[in-house]
Amino acid sequence: MILVTGGAGFIGANFILDWFAVNDEPLVNVDKLTYAGNLRSLAPLAKDTRHRFVRGDIADAALIGELLTRHRPRAVVNFAAETHVDRSIRGPAAFIETNVTGTFSLLDSVREWWSALPDAERAAFRFLHVSTDEVYGSLAATDPAFSESTPYAPNSPYAASKAASDHLVRAYHHTYGLPTLTTNCSNNYGPLQFPEKLIPLMIVNALAGKPLPVYGDGRNVRDWLYVRDHCSAIRTVLAHGAPGATYNVGGNAEMANLDVVRTLCRLVGERRPGLDCERQITFVSDRPGHDRRYAIDASKIRRELGWSPSETFESGMRSTVDWYLANDAWLASVQNAEYRQWVDLHYAERAEA
Ligand code: NAD
Ligand code: DAU
Repeated sequence: MILVTGGAGFIGANFILDWFAVNDEPLVNVDKLTYAGNLRSLAPLAKDTRHRFVRGDIADAALIGELLTRHRPRAVVNFAAETHVDRSIRGPAAFIETNVTGTFSLLDSVREWWSALPDAERAAFRFLHVSTDEVYGSLAATDPAFSESTPYAPNSPYAASKAASDHLVRAYHHTYGLPTLTTNCSNNYGPLQFPEKLIPLMIVNALAGKPLPVYGDGRNVRDWLYVRDHCSAIRTVLAHGAPGATYNVGGNAEMANLDVVRTLCRLVGERRPGLDCERQITFVSDRPGHDRRYAIDASKIRRELGWSPSETFESGMRSTVDWYLANDAWLASVQNAEYRQWVDLHYAERAEA
């Protein structure tokens, strides 16, 4: 079996649902259920004995040690993190607690348990750490895309905390020989994403007739990857990645934010004739320290492991818009009082630019 952390979040839940769609290997899912964790996302597995959910913190060494001893996983896949850049600017402490101290604690619990395993199990074990392209910093328009050897230059508290966790993972491989794998992925989108992030926020606001708040001039560029393609990349790295290696994962789909929002308006308009949400686009004050451009060179994972994305931006966005339109109960459930408070506070301060 494998142990997954943060499996009630956006990518973790997609990973678990896809995991059972392609194999029957049992999985234990440890998640703290912060505001971003949602068991409703895993409802299709409610009665499935292959999935075992445990509410807990990756920093709880006693709990993690007990789960490792009881279940003897052949791998740990670490999704658990604080993930929203804007929240990291407002309150960085939680990002240090989970992404730095929590990842350290998880690594150390795993190292202690793993080092006492019989040789064959120790050699076969993998610790896969799910990280981000934001650790590489920001690119100018004509810079080459980030490769695995691009120096780290994180710019936000979120990116810095993920960079610190990546360094710890690297050190645990180099020093203790823990068979680690790290993936650095670009921006994901798709079903089950919490509507604080650009694409689901814009869909929610478009449908509600609210402003679509674009930061700055809307020309910041991200490299978008459909979440299920990220999940297949993680499965590929877990199965075939070289211990100690890092792999960049991306969709080869660079887009300026304004073009993302316009695409989304077109697709929503196709499904809801008469709704012209481009008129709702509003330019608001910029994110402090806003990285201008991310782009991923995914040639290593393609060359060495044969992975490439299946979805184009257009096909992935169509599926995404359709999923949100068909899942209004899920969307309503996550727009609770805490969510509304975040949106009110965050966007009230970003008056129209
Ligand atoms: P998310 O915010 O949707 O979910 C994070 C999950 O982790 C939640 O279920 C939350 O409850 C859980 N969690 C938080 N702190 C925890 C703790 N201390 N112990 C246990 N569980 C905890 O995040 P996501 O978008 O699904 O991202 C998952 C991972 O992928 C993160 O590590 C993130 O850095 C990385 N990543 C995300 C993207 C993206 O575009 N979303 C891109 C590249 C990499
Ligand atoms: O690159 C990978 C990263 O992508 C992940 O590591 C992070 O966890 C994930 O949150 C994401 O970070 P971003 O900051 O790029 O994503 P976000 O959806 O917050 O913003 C995408 C772009 O859209 C960014 O340039 C900021 C802009 N934006 C965002 C919001 C929420 C807006 O213009 N308006 C908004 O309201």
